[in-house]
Amino acid sequence: MALFEKQKKDLSRPVPRHIAIIMDGNGRWAKKRGMPRSYGHAAGSETFRRIATYCKDIGVDFLTVYAFSTENWKRSEEEVGAIMGLLQKYLIEALEKMEKDRVKICFMGDLSRLPEELQALCANAVEKSKHFDGVQLNICLNYGGRDEILHAAREYARRCASGECTPEELDEETFSSLLYSAGVPDPDLIIRPSGELRLSNFLLWQAAYAEFYYTDVLWPDFTPEELEKAIAAFNSRSRRFGGTK
Ligand code: FPP
Repeated sequence: MALFEKQKKDLSRPVPRHIAIIMDGNGRWAKKRGMPRSYGHAAGSETFRRIATYCKDIGVDFLTVYAFSTENWKRSEEEVGAIMGLLQKYLIEALEKMEKDRVKICFMGDLSRLPEELQALCANAVEKSKHFDGVQLNICLNYGGRDEILHAAREYARRCASGECTPEELDEETFSSLLYSAGVPDPDLIIRPSGELRLSNFLLWQAAYAEFYYTDVLWPDFTPEELEKAIAAFNSRSRRFGGTK
């Protein structure tokens, strides 16, 4: 029996409540095969589908994926177009299978810069899935951690300027409620495949006490078995949140 089939039935091991993934390595995966980068992104989006389904099956409550950063606009028009096309394809499919999958789809990022058709699909997916209680999938799209913090700071400054609140009243809870991730618990586990050891502007505020897991496996080759290795590593850590055990 495949490992992931076995694990579905194994309720004994704890599973992180919120897993966040930097889906990295698509370009290198394609290059190794002499193919264009878009080929790697297409393979990466298949991996995303498998991992999202697996997370749902093992009872992860929140899955957050870094699909397109505020810096990714620097890539060629062709590559940006390919990623947007894959997102569009995924959302069309997700809308069709929504009743069966019961995945709650949310977005984090400034969607206003996306193609209008994609914006409409995002809005539709959010609206139609808002009552679902399966895994909550947060897709980070035109997302940057610094952009998110600036966006929240501007909003709070606006409220102060209008007399609604004062700078002294600002606390972590209020600030968190102004982030794109409002209402979502901080990630417990952040996974970065492809051997890179950096955060790349991902969940800067939310990552404060996240456990990190890195692997050299490129994202298109990341399997449920690899995810299980990350979960096992997570379960072997001692989380103290700045306190003592
Ligand atoms: C990073 O790898 C990957 C991206 C910037 C795009 C991720 C997008 C997808 C997996 C497809 C669409 C997503 C969904 C949710 C359907 P890279 O290109 O930087 O890889 P490299 O470091 O090897 O060049």
